[in-house]
Amino acid sequence: MSDDTRSLAEGPRTAIRPFTLDDAEEFTARVRESAALHRPWLFPPATPEKYTAYAGALIEDPTKAGFLVCERDAADGAGAIAGFININNIVAGAFRCGALGYGAFAHAAGRGLMGEGLELVLDHAFGPLALHRLEANVQPDNAGSIGLVRRAGFRLEGFSPDFLYIDGAWRDHERWAITADMR
Ligand SMILES: CC(C)(COP(=O)(O)OP(=O)(O)OC[C@H]1O[C@@H](n2cnc3c(N)ncnc32)[C@H](O)[C@@H]1OP(=O)(O)O)[C@@H](O)C(=O)NCCC(=O)NCCS
Repeated sequence: MSDDTRSLAEGPRTAIRPFTLDDAEEFTARVRESAALHRPWLFPPATPEKYTAYAGALIEDPTKAGFLVCERDAADGAGAIAGFININNIVAGAFRCGALGYGAFAHAAGRGLMGEGLELVLDHAFGPLALHRLEANVQPDNAGSIGLVRRAGFRLEGFSPDFLYIDGAWRDHERWAITADMR
């Protein structure tokens, strides 16, 4: 196994590892299967061409860090991809903050795998990445996303009207966040 596909951290049922360009086929097939789960909240790349640009930025851009949440004992034994959790807009200096984006894949949703994967990402972000704060900006009707971050110990900091441009319009968002000292 190359360094690129080695786990960064492991929990009882999941492991997190970086995105690689070789994951295009599996990732985009799972995205296409998951449209009903993701929309209208999330629009990840559904073709290998779009994946290459998306994963390339996560791999190379120092303001981003992307993690594939893999199921350790998946039927194929190869660590099938259950979902992904990305840290975007990483700012260093006195802020040391990043903004989360995430999605489960349909076959893995609702099984607690993303909750475990998020714990691993938080450990990695506040450990090796030395971040101080992670935020999750969520549309108020997105119960699954709010459930995930609430369960992980994020606190609701506020509400921002017209905060992010998603699916053709500026959308209101709840501002959830966690700091390293809350772990
Ligand atoms: C958000 C998302 C990744 C959660 O994935 P998941 O597979 O349901 O997560 P898990 O099964 O690990 O559940 C994690 C926690 O969230 C809670 N949760 C999940 N869905 C929930 C819902 N609809 N309402 C309330 N809580 C919910 C679970 O109960 C669990 O907490 P628990 O351990 O106390 O029971 C998934 O719903 C998804 O991909 N949504 C569409 C994409 C999206 O909205 N991305 C984020 C945009 S801000």
